[in-house]
Amino acid sequence: MVALVHVPADPDHPDAWTVEGTVRVGDAVDLAIHGSTDFSLDVATTRATMTEPHRRVHRIVALPAGAPRTPESVVGRAMIGLPLVGNAHLAVIYVGVHPDQRRRGIGAALWDAGLDIARDAGRRVVISDSSYATEPEPGPDALESPTGSGRIPVHDDATRFALARGFTLEQVVRHSVLTLPARVDHLRRDPGASYRVHLMQDEYAAEWLDGLALLKTRMSTDAPSAGLELTEDPWDADRVVADAADIRRRGQGFLVAVVEHVPTGEPAAFSMVEYPLDKPAVVFQGDTLVLREHRGHGLGMVAKIAVLDALAGVRPRAARIHTWNAQENAHMLAINVALGFRQASVDAEWQRAL
Ligand SMILES: CC(C)(COP(=O)(O)OP(=O)(O)OC[C@H]1O[C@@H](n2cnc3c(N)ncnc32)[C@H](O)[C@@H]1OP(=O)(O)O)[C@@H](O)C(=O)NCCC(=O)NCCS
Repeated sequence: MVALVHVPADPDHPDAWTVEGTVRVGDAVDLAIHGSTDFSLDVATTRATMTEPHRRVHRIVALPAGAPRTPESVVGRAMIGLPLVGNAHLAVIYVGVHPDQRRRGIGAALWDAGLDIARDAGRRVVISDSSYATEPEPGPDALESPTGSGRIPVHDDATRFALARGFTLEQVVRHSVLTLPARVDHLRRDPGASYRVHLMQDEYAAEWLDGLALLKTRMSTDAPSAGLELTEDPWDADRVVADAADIRRRGQGFLVAVVEHVPTGEPAAFSMVEYPLDKPAVVFQGDTLVLREHRGHGLGMVAKIAVLDALAGVRPRAARIHTWNAQENAHMLAINVALGFRQASVDAEWQRAL
């Protein structure tokens, strides 16, 4: 019934056409949920994700058995992400099926193939996510997050599929959008002489590599992760350098603001955005973190506004910033709401043991 083809990273491989197939299905799934393709990766970027330095990525496409082996025949796709440094006990598996082709066993076939890869790699936990256009009101159509913050629709293909495949809802994540230009002058605060902002574009400054490694490591432990079995993802200076190169290789640029604690010369906070170079209107908020010992001084807002100010010069056609925050992450959400971010959709974070 369904033929599965593994997507090769090599553009000269005879099955290289599958990359375009996976992009086409991804666009169709996103259009059905969000009415936009802001999040979709183009062919070159998708291919680049398959040779990242700190994560092994497998992709599989599904097509009706006997259909011509062309991108147009692809009706489903799976992505299996295997972290290689921290969290090497888990696999992230994402399955998407064209909205016109559902309930024909395509998702199940892709899921089974993804599980095989995760098992062969020795992973013991699977995490997945799904997106919904709207967050339902409390009631019979709402599945409540076990954290107590956030809900997703029960009567939805993705929820039914995830529950049928043995997943548990662990966390609900709010997706918000800030329309640019942002009006933030009323939020500007002088952080005082103890703190100084350093901005970097597309490359991390050599003197901040160790500081960024600390900030990014803390990001993996300090962002709320509910019941998800996530552990520390350790970064060092080499990984920070490799990360910058990898963002550029994927056809993206980035801006990062590091807030220095001047008396010690140590990092106190940072915020980062990334943007696909082929989509001038689109920006993604990346990490934002204030180290525990520096909280309560408004440094999250300082770092974010520093990035916004720089972004206006670097990406003058940027029209919107997308961000995702756990619904229980009250402090981060408060900053984002104050900046003008408005909820656009909602995501579920699913987990199951293998
Ligand atoms: C989730 C998704 C991949 C399912 O794809 P699919 O090809 O329709 O799935 P299948 O036909 O293989 O269904 C497998 C099982 O999931 C469950 N299921 C899927 N959709 C369902 C629905 N609308 N209602 C009830 N059960 C459903 C059923 O148990 C089904 O088995 P059955 O057909 O034997 O009853 C598809 O709906 C999709 O692409 N959704 C958007 C992307 C997404 O959110 N992916 C992440 C999911 S964790």
